[in-house]
Amino acid sequence: MLPLLSDFSLALLMVILCSTTFSPLMPLSLIYLREELRLERVLKAAAMEDRTVILTTLNEAWAAPDSIFDLFLESFRIGDHTHMLLNHLVVIALDQKAYTRCLAMHTHCFALLTEGVNFSGEAYFMTPDYLKMMWRRINFLQSVLEMGYHFIFTDADIMWFRNPLPHFYSDADFQTACDHFIGNSYDVQNKANGGFNYAKSNNRTIEFYRFWYSSRETYPGYHDQDVLNIIKYDPFIIEIGLQMRFLNTAYFGGLCEPSKDLNEVCTMHANCCYGLDSKLHDLKIMLEDWRRFLSLPEDLKQLRLSSWRVPQNCSLTSLRHHGLPPKNIEQEESD
Ligand SMILES: *[C@@H]1O[C@H](CO)[C@@H](O)[C@H](O)[C@H]1NC(C)=O
Ligand SMILES: *[C@@H]1O[C@H](CO)[C@@H](O)[C@H](O)[C@H]1NC(C)=O
Ligand SMILES: *[C@@H]1O[C@H](CO)[C@@H](O)[C@H](O)[C@H]1NC(C)=O
Repeated sequence: MLPLLSDFSLALLMVILCSTTFSPLMPLSLIYLREELRLERVLKAAAMEDRTVILTTLNEAWAAPDSIFDLFLESFRIGDHTHMLLNHLVVIALDQKAYTRCLAMHTHCFALLTEGVNFSGEAYFMTPDYLKMMWRRINFLQSVLEMGYHFIFTDADIMWFRNPLPHFYSDADFQTACDHFIGNSYDVQNKANGGFNYAKSNNRTIEFYRFWYSSRETYPGYHDQDVLNIIKYDPFIIEIGLQMRFLNTAYFGGLCEPSKDLNEVCTMHANCCYGLDSKLHDLKIMLEDWRRFLSLPEDLKQLRLSSWRVPQNCSLTSLRHHGLPPKNIEQEESD
């Protein structure tokens, strides 16, 4: 650990030691400092030349063999020029098992520890643990921005088929995928999906993530995505000058609104889906569809005849089989 301490970190360490000598909080400060150094090392190793990293979070249920994580990694390998993007992917493990599996499968892994919370199980949508996990993520992403890294955040149930970077708006601070895209990337009425976004590190995005995270207290019981879809209208966004854009589902699609043309698709999200088994079922079909498309001769690809066979088990009909009340079905659309 010692060789990693820069002069600045040593100075910071001294300040913390001196200022908290008689405080019961001291061990916690040290834990957080160590965590930040650990994170800095992982981010630095994975970053592109311009300090952009790709981030995803993972828990035990999604990291298990033959679960979401395997499909996620596979999509990068069979995607069009996406394989090399794995060099820039940092997996944020939320528990020990996810961390161990990440180390076995991937180069850049980071264990994010949260005291007193068990994020291991399948975090069922809208349970208190699910909410905590989602909010911990927003808080963590804020700290990544504060460290000066730009990031593409992606849920692991998003398949990467093409490099998204050419489709991002160069003048935007924060851009997000949508469950439903209404045709204009500036229109805040677009229904944002928090599972995929690109944030540039600057004062505006740092302020924005701080505001987003603090809004969990203003809207208790809501998850980060619902809150995003509320605060996107807030005058505070204009006040801080944040440029927010919404990404077209033609490139950044999902089961809510699939990317129609396989010649154009960058990413496909298993949103509008309840339950891990249904998600896995439909994601596997999605990968099969992609492979089938790739195997077509060039002229047939251009005919745009092939399309997705999903959603199947992820449809709203299958949701009702889970006996969810209508309110949850509506909310489920967003994940
Ligand atoms: C966390 O949850 C998982 C799955 O629900 C369980 O197997 C494990 O024992 C729990 N760990 C702790 C420390 O409570
Ligand atoms: C934030 O603003 C301050 C003062 O305007 C500036 O010195 C600093 O470099 C900015 N930080 C980032 C991350 O852009
Ligand atoms: C998918 O749906 C079919 C038809 O409803 C069902 O038979 C099958 O068990 C489901 N598979 C999974 C993995 O949920």
